[in-house]
Amino acid sequence: MPMASTPHSLMAVNQRPEQVFVRGAGAYLYDREGRRYLDWVQGWSVNCLGHSPAVIAQALCAQAHTLINPGPAFYNEPAMELAELLTRHSCFDQVFFASSGAEANEGAIKLARKWGQRHKNGAFEIITFDNAFHGRTLATMSASGKPGWDTLFAPQVPGFPKARFNDIESVRALISTNAVAIMLEPTQGEAGVIPADMAFLQGLRALCDEHELLLIVDEVQTGCGRTGTLFAYEQYGIEPDIMTLGKGLGGGVPLSALLAKEACCCFEAGDQGGTFCGNALTCAAGVAVMRSLLADGFLAESREVCARLRSGLVDVAMEFQLGEVRGRGALLALELGRDIAAEVVTLAREMGLLLNAPRAHCLRFMPPLNSTAAEVQEGLGLLRQVLATLLKNQALPAVAAAPDASRDALRVTVYDDRLHRAEVISLWRQVFGYETAHNAPELAIDRKLAMRDGLFFVATVGGAVAGTLMAGYDGHRGWLYSVGVHPAQQKTGVGAALIRHAERALKDRGCLKINLQIIGSNERVTGFYQALGFVVEPRISMGKILHKADMTPSPDSPCRVQEPGGGAVAG
Ligand SMILES: Cc1ncc(COP(=O)(O)O)c(C=O)c1O
Repeated sequence: MPMASTPHSLMAVNQRPEQVFVRGAGAYLYDREGRRYLDWVQGWSVNCLGHSPAVIAQALCAQAHTLINPGPAFYNEPAMELAELLTRHSCFDQVFFASSGAEANEGAIKLARKWGQRHKNGAFEIITFDNAFHGRTLATMSASGKPGWDTLFAPQVPGFPKARFNDIESVRALISTNAVAIMLEPTQGEAGVIPADMAFLQGLRALCDEHELLLIVDEVQTGCGRTGTLFAYEQYGIEPDIMTLGKGLGGGVPLSALLAKEACCCFEAGDQGGTFCGNALTCAAGVAVMRSLLADGFLAESREVCARLRSGLVDVAMEFQLGEVRGRGALLALELGRDIAAEVVTLAREMGLLLNAPRAHCLRFMPPLNSTAAEVQEGLGLLRQVLATLLKNQALPAVAAAPDASRDALRVTVYDDRLHRAEVISLWRQVFGYETAHNAPELAIDRKLAMRDGLFFVATVGGAVAGTLMAGYDGHRGWLYSVGVHPAQQKTGVGAALIRHAERALKDRGCLKINLQIIGSNERVTGFYQALGFVVEPRISMGKILHKADMTPSPDSPCRVQEPGGGAVAG
């Protein structure tokens, strides 16, 4: 008689729903009652290729029949092949394999401390961040900034001073002679999917260079294609010294990795190890995952489908007057604006959709990277049903009329529209969709998207889209932009704020002059722009010089857009 049919002999370390899952296939999970669930948790983003994908099943099966674990003191082929794949496609030189994200992070901490002993007079402090999550071993819990964890299993492992995320000055203030490294997640997942700003991560790299510190990125969650590129650090134009991977690396099989540049690889024999580390079975799964992620067009297609999900979430946020949508690729969050995330998760599960709530007021979406457009539509439809059911009796707050209170603070976000086309179109439509009789928005958008180096600025107030500004380089007229403000937000300073942000961003890129197209201009509108320093010009509606020295941008050398990723917060 099998005994595994009741859960009572499992330690109760968390609250689990009653379902017992017996089968998984791609985006779907099945319970033992035969119910099907669209799974947007995917084992907390470990199943990057969905449940039980054939490539992993086949790799495991073949490897299990050949060699499972010769032991970490011997070489094996899958481990060598995986290390070679990872170093060839990253900026790192050497790899150590482990089984969990926490174990990889422990390795990173030990490596940094060893490097400090060798090169920095025993410096050992690793600056980490409030609300960070690095794992559940004692050292990684101490490195984490989860509220309450400082006392949970006191005393903590010392040496992890906490700075504020996206606040470079708070990091600078913690650098002492004891400091050896800075460690962060490029997107804080457990904190509610908070991406590091472009300037922040670049600033950390510069700080590390200035003070001879190691930059450690914990890409346990963001790595392996989760945020749209193979590794998230690539989107910031920097190279870290150390990186950790986990979750997606094994596609559901316990496998993690510590990667480092050669100059940091200072472990000596006996310093680091573990009986499961680098075993042939899990590394074979890792090879299958990496080959899939590196296959032609895989990541581009994943970005495209995930952009649909993001844009759909933006639509849902507008429809139900919720808060902002954050994140990149297949790691997204939706702010609900009230503490109902747990109820949403429960009702969604009853309706056949598995979701995660990292915070009481926000949902996290971690679909498989190979999701289809149909699955995205299905999931968004289920989410709409859940929200409609839960919110039908609740009065929805109206879009704020003026951006003054801090909750309603005006926030400007920059998107690289080549990576986020669907989302950009959806956001644009939210502003221009209100007055489209004379102004076909699709055409305008396509014209703008056809320009080189397109940047798209979105102003939100209290999470709702309040205005957009599209900037692009069109070859003969230089940089152009057009601005739209939601009718409910006109005359509240949104337009001027967007223009200020865009001008600063374009000026930083060496842009010499911007030109403005005004649709349906009248005296009030031109007066508004004149007050911001524009002058009426022939051929274009109005123009403004940003750099006085040279006013003629060469068509051959447009201002380059530095940000390869989208969604960076400009201010
Ligand atoms: C950024 C990050 N680091 C480390 C970990 C810990 O990984 P594991 O649970 O495999 O130990 C997690 C898990 O969620 C994570 O998100």
